[in-house]
Amino acid sequence: PSGVLLDALGRPLRDLRISVTDRCNFRCSYCMPRETFDRHHAFLPHADLLSFEEITRLARLFVAHGVRKLRLTGGEPLLRKNVETLIEQLAQLRTPEGLPLDLTLTTNASLLQRKARSLKAAGLSRITISLDALDDAVFRRMNDADFPVAEVLAGIDAAEAVGLGPIKINTVVKRGTNEHQILPLVRHFRGRPLALRFIEYMDVGCSNGWQMDEVLPSAEARQLIEAELPLLALPASAAGETAERWGHAGPDGRHDPALGEVGFISSVTQAFCRDCNRARLSTEGKVYLCLFANQGYDLRALLRTGASDADLAHAIAAIWQPRRERYSELRASLPAAARAPEAGKRIEMSYIGG
Ligand code: GTP
Ligand code: 5AD
Ligand code: SF4
Ligand code: SF4
Repeated sequence: PSGVLLDALGRPLRDLRISVTDRCNFRCSYCMPRETFDRHHAFLPHADLLSFEEITRLARLFVAHGVRKLRLTGGEPLLRKNVETLIEQLAQLRTPEGLPLDLTLTTNASLLQRKARSLKAAGLSRITISLDALDDAVFRRMNDADFPVAEVLAGIDAAEAVGLGPIKINTVVKRGTNEHQILPLVRHFRGRPLALRFIEYMDVGCSNGWQMDEVLPSAEARQLIEAELPLLALPASAAGETAERWGHAGPDGRHDPALGEVGFISSVTQAFCRDCNRARLSTEGKVYLCLFANQGYDLRALLRTGASDADLAHAIAAIWQPRRERYSELRASLPAAARAPEAGKRIEMSYIGG
């Protein structure tokens, strides 16, 4: 295949997010609440996981269809055994113009001090780290695994030291839980060459008990910051970007890029489906067209019954072209019954990744 693949709403396929495990060593309440993800929870058996060769083969075909960014997700992707080997394979892929891809990964950083160097050596371009609080007690409560914040901060330092920047930090904000951490996080990272992004808590999956009153709209988060530190709006750096970007003002009131960036991902109050160019590949080889999808399209069966590259490329096109998904734009107008988790079996964030 060649050229850009467009969906039914004219959106190109640019970003492939590959989940490499449905397991995680954290139990963030908004993602894997312990009540559901307890020791009885059935994670995917090993035989169901795509192999690294299968993932790389599919990624190559997605690239031929226009994908330019690959993101490894989980669960926690660094829990996948030998994930560096997969990164080495994906780092070999080239665009039709012969350029390397943007190859990145979203992690909770629990294993990052140990792995930063090998990830960089394997060919990872950059990294995104989840961090919901600076206060140790608040952080331990949110990850519900008693994991100390100091280790995440050390993981961020390690990633920066080996050249995995510019780093992005993702903070999910839950009203009543960590909105008082917004300013401390901004103060802490102001002056470093990274982007700190606040994400509105979303109604992904069926188990987090999402309620609108726990969403802190990005506009409010920004007001909390601007009461102390002025922000300056920055232009979008890429089409279909999830985050609205802001810079810091230096003493003269002008934008100082050396102070880093703050971003807001507002999928609840300002949906960005219009430019959504993201396809998601699950650990077991299903393609999902939206974070809020109920069902995926199985590619593993094709892979394991001898399909040719042409067959697979054709299957990918047939999945993307009719795509009309735009859940976040519709959320407000959907009847509550259609939004309720029991109305469908929406996939979990830990299954499909951010
Ligand atoms: P870069 O900015 O290039 O690093 O990519 P990105 O913005 O896609 O980054 P990332 O994967 O870190 O996404 C940040 C968060 O935004 C995710 O963890 C999700 O919470 C949210 N998000 C990402 N993609 C989507 C999407 O397609 N729909 C919705 N509703 N939320 C998304
Ligand atoms: N709402 C918003 N973001 C979420 N993430 C996980 N669950 C949710 C949710 N319900 C984010 C995490 C991480 C990424 C994997 O997804 O913070 O950055
Ligand atoms: Fe694990 Fe990330 Fe989900 Fe937290 S948000 S439980 S770290 S996958
Ligand atoms: Fe894309 Fe679905 Fe998110 Fe909209 S809600 S931006 S269509 S993944």
